[in-house]
Amino acid sequence: MIYLNGKFLPIEQAYVPVLDRGFIFGDGIYEVIPVYSRLPFRLDEHLTRLQHSLDGIRLTNPYTISHWRNLIESLIAQNEGEDQYLYLHITRGVAKRDHAFPAGVESTVFMMSTPLAIPSQELLTTGVAAITAQDNRWGRCDIKAISLLPNVLLRQLAVDARTMETILLRDGLLTEGAASNIFIVRNHILLAPPKDHRMLPGITYDLVLEMAAANAIDHEVRDITEHELRTAQEIMLTSSTKEILPIVQLDGQPIGNALPGEIFRKLNGLYQNYKATIMRGKQASS
Ligand code: PDD
Repeated sequence: MIYLNGKFLPIEQAYVPVLDRGFIFGDGIYEVIPVYSRLPFRLDEHLTRLQHSLDGIRLTNPYTISHWRNLIESLIAQNEGEDQYLYLHITRGVAKRDHAFPAGVESTVFMMSTPLAIPSQELLTTGVAAITAQDNRWGRCDIKAISLLPNVLLRQLAVDARTMETILLRDGLLTEGAASNIFIVRNHILLAPPKDHRMLPGITYDLVLEMAAANAIDHEVRDITEHELRTAQEIMLTSSTKEILPIVQLDGQPIGNALPGEIFRKLNGLYQNYKATIMRGKQASS
């Protein structure tokens, strides 16, 4: 079951008119929210980022927070699987094709749920490979825009090279992955690029930094150079669907000793504990 403009219906019966501005211009934004044990994870943070993306494209939020919460609860209930991920998508609606905003048009709201398959134990034990590419995206990568063509092309480079992710470099600095945020470790310090218009403010990224701060893991948020990336002791990617994944090879070269590192193992342990604690707490209170 999916949600489209006020109705829950089977996905086969869901259609959007061809003049939808999402279809014509990629004029919209989205969110991806993980659901563990049928409970949405960090929902407030995802809804706050949704608002940031809407503000970034000057689109009014069609619903109140409590309405979003109710819809999300219903969507989870109507889909199978304890662990799901929700995709929320809002466009500027259906209008005659003209670049400028249409007047008096309702936005299109679409939500679907997909079973969440978190990385296997094997991937966490062996780590994954990545490649690098120049970040040729636009100047507002902090907006979770549905117009993802550069990300699609960049991510395909990783698939063509039989690797997991493409790590992006802009003006000699690390920005993020094609569909993830990137952390590195140097001299036992966890390093993260700063949240600005060059990258998506990841919900998992924030959680990793929160966990580092709460557990006395040395960390710094600052620009990271290409040289620092290539000679890192550890590299890891984060995203709502991949959690935290260790990258042990970059452009065919080993990172550290080509095995998941100590800081990754610590953070992943903390992340799994945090997930379990939050879920237990929520279940107890619901
Ligand atoms: N993508 N950067 C980019 C470009 C992303 O597309 C994503 C996530 C992230 C990580 O953000 P978060 O931790 O909030 O998931 C960073 C999602 C999962 C997607 O597009 O499917």
